[in-house]
Amino acid sequence: MTIDPLAFMATLENRIGLTSEDKSLLKLNEAWGLEIASEMADHFYAYLGRDPEMKAILNATEGRIHRLRETFVQWFHEMFTGMDDWGNTYAQRRWRIGVVHVQIGIGPQHVVPAMAVVVHEVGRKLKLNGKPEALQESLGRICMIDLAFIEQAYVEVSRSAVLKETGWSEALFKRLITHGAALM
Ligand code: HEM
Repeated sequence: MTIDPLAFMATLENRIGLTSEDKSLLKLNEAWGLEIASEMADHFYAYLGRDPEMKAILNATEGRIHRLRETFVQWFHEMFTGMDDWGNTYAQRRWRIGVVHVQIGIGPQHVVPAMAVVVHEVGRKLKLNGKPEALQESLGRICMIDLAFIEQAYVEVSRSAVLKETGWSEALFKRLITHGAALM
């Protein structure tokens, strides 16, 4: 493991501004979250299926899409329950989700628009069901935290793999990146 997921969670909560009011509101709407999770999964996979590259990833192995639907519903519901009050279990799970996507080669270009679809569709459903605007904001914040975990996993896993493979020091790696960026 390259980062401490719980410490990272705390940093993100501060940066994104996820408050105890957000958490209470999410918990209060937990049953609704579960109720709409399957419909959100439909939107999500319909969106991924319209992109040839992502469609190929989804159908690359037998039973993958079926497994994914189930894990999506679970993931979506967990944003409302917070699992262990958005504690260590939540953070470890989000980190793990990030690592799984890095292993499959799914990068920021795939994940960011996919999360935007979730935010957009949940916002539409919220209005249709007469839910408060505050819930939309709370959901937006937790979605951004989950997104940051996947994005950070990409950076951390790549960095630690290069360091392990080459034996370079952290300082040398940073210098090479700074130098490379300066040349672009
Ligand atoms: C909002 C962004 C996303 C979320 C929240 C999400 C959620 C998840 C979750 C919860 C898992 C299960 C992780 C585990 O096994 O522990 C997973 C796996 C996976 N995701 Fe995503 N995902 C996202 C974006 C994407 C995108 C853009 C793709 C591109 C096609 C994708 C394809 C996959 C694949 C192929 C797996 C592994 C499935 C398997 O074979 O078991 N995901 N995702």
